[in-house]
Amino acid sequence: MEKKATLTLPDGKKIDFPVLSGSIGPDVVDIRALYGQTGAFTYDPGFMSTASCNSTITYIDGDKGVLLYRGYPIEQLAVHCDFLEVCFLLLYGELPTQKEKDEFVGMVTNHTMLHEQINRFFTGFRRDAHPMATMVGVVGALSAFYHDSLDINDPRHREVAAFRLIAKMPTITAMAYKYNTGQPFMYPQNNLSYSANFMRMMFGTPCEEYRINDVLVRALDRIFILHADHEQNASTSTVRLSGSSGANPFACIAAGIACLWGPAHGGANEACLQMLEQIGDASKVGEFIKQVKDKNSHVRLMGFGHRVYKNYDPRAKLMRETCHEVLNELGLANDRLFELAIALEKIALEDDYFVERKLYPNVDFYSGIVQRAIGIPTSMFTCIFALARTVGWIAQWKEMIVDPDQKIGRPRQLYQGKTQRDVTPIGKRG
Ligand code: CMC
Repeated sequence: MEKKATLTLPDGKKIDFPVLSGSIGPDVVDIRALYGQTGAFTYDPGFMSTASCNSTITYIDGDKGVLLYRGYPIEQLAVHCDFLEVCFLLLYGELPTQKEKDEFVGMVTNHTMLHEQINRFFTGFRRDAHPMATMVGVVGALSAFYHDSLDINDPRHREVAAFRLIAKMPTITAMAYKYNTGQPFMYPQNNLSYSANFMRMMFGTPCEEYRINDVLVRALDRIFILHADHEQNASTSTVRLSGSSGANPFACIAAGIACLWGPAHGGANEACLQMLEQIGDASKVGEFIKQVKDKNSHVRLMGFGHRVYKNYDPRAKLMRETCHEVLNELGLANDRLFELAIALEKIALEDDYFVERKLYPNVDFYSGIVQRAIGIPTSMFTCIFALARTVGWIAQWKEMIVDPDQKIGRPRQLYQGKTQRDVTPIGKRG
């Protein structure tokens, strides 16, 4: 039987709305006809109860701490797959066979190099620019170079744009870093894996051969997998909203990067590490927690809490494991910040303030420590997140383009300003 929900209006009139069921997860009340039938809008700032689209890519059950990409649990993908397999899965819906993987890796690898003139964009920025500022600019500028993949109505163009973005993000990210440090840009080396190539472009120099450390490469690859998609978060919704107007994919991804930069979203891992540095050592944790609980202080425990996860963030658990592996590999098992993070996590998890509000560590709580150990500076953390999330953004964008329900995103508002009034000439305004 078709499910429906009935809304009773203030004048007693009743209207039925269809209730749609997903393959898993909560039902949604389809209120598309609400305005037409009643003249009223819904009010839902922050999309607390609103599904903005339908999707088949990623599923999260925040109460149970479940994250699935195309149905596969993140815990299994993180252990059995590499990042490019996960990219294939997100883009095409299935894990690749070996042959499909080889072809896909070949396609991505083909596009790792940037148009040589893009180098000049970097040199236009100040050396001390935040690398995310550079990323927003350079990724947006890709649309000025790759005119043969800008037609959003052509499936082949969309495909090539996806390859280009996934392939070039590591190159752009590493260049943003190299420009900051004053070292020469490193060209991609296509016989290396995606993550090893990125590490070489970040940390190698033309003076000597870069030695690949498999444990660190695997840790970085896992960071990429864990950040690859997260359904309709703020930056993904930004990409979809930008794309809904027909904007080209490079411009849309630049918009996603801009949104990701904020401290409540992708900027949290940078903010989290800064917070740990500020706290300094375990003896100061109690005092810090007191500040967090004092509403007037506006201090938050960064890396804690999530709009969707109200039990635990499964990515945080995997990240903590990776953190152990990396620190052991580097002989940093007694890392001060890691010990501090564990102490902070333990105290917070036992504290009523956090328990009552269902605040648990999120992926950013440990990812900063891993990245710092690998040698990635704090200012680059959000860039790494952007690199990894690009596949999710582009998969969601591609899904949106072919969705028959897709329309230009155009929210409405509850207007609370002045009602209509007349302009007083300037001399008579007092
Ligand atoms: N520290 C202290 N209090 C917190 C925190 C925190 N990290 N997070 C939420 N709260 C409190 C908040 O003050 C509020 O308390 P009250 O009900 O007394 O007013 C309650 O918990 C609910 O918070 P909210 O801000 O209404 O929740 P939200 O769903 O809008 O926010 C969040 C989610 C992630 C923005 C928030 O938890 C936060 O700011 N966390 C710190 C930043 C962070 O780690 N962000 C990374 C998110 S995961 C990676 C990603 O997806 O980008």
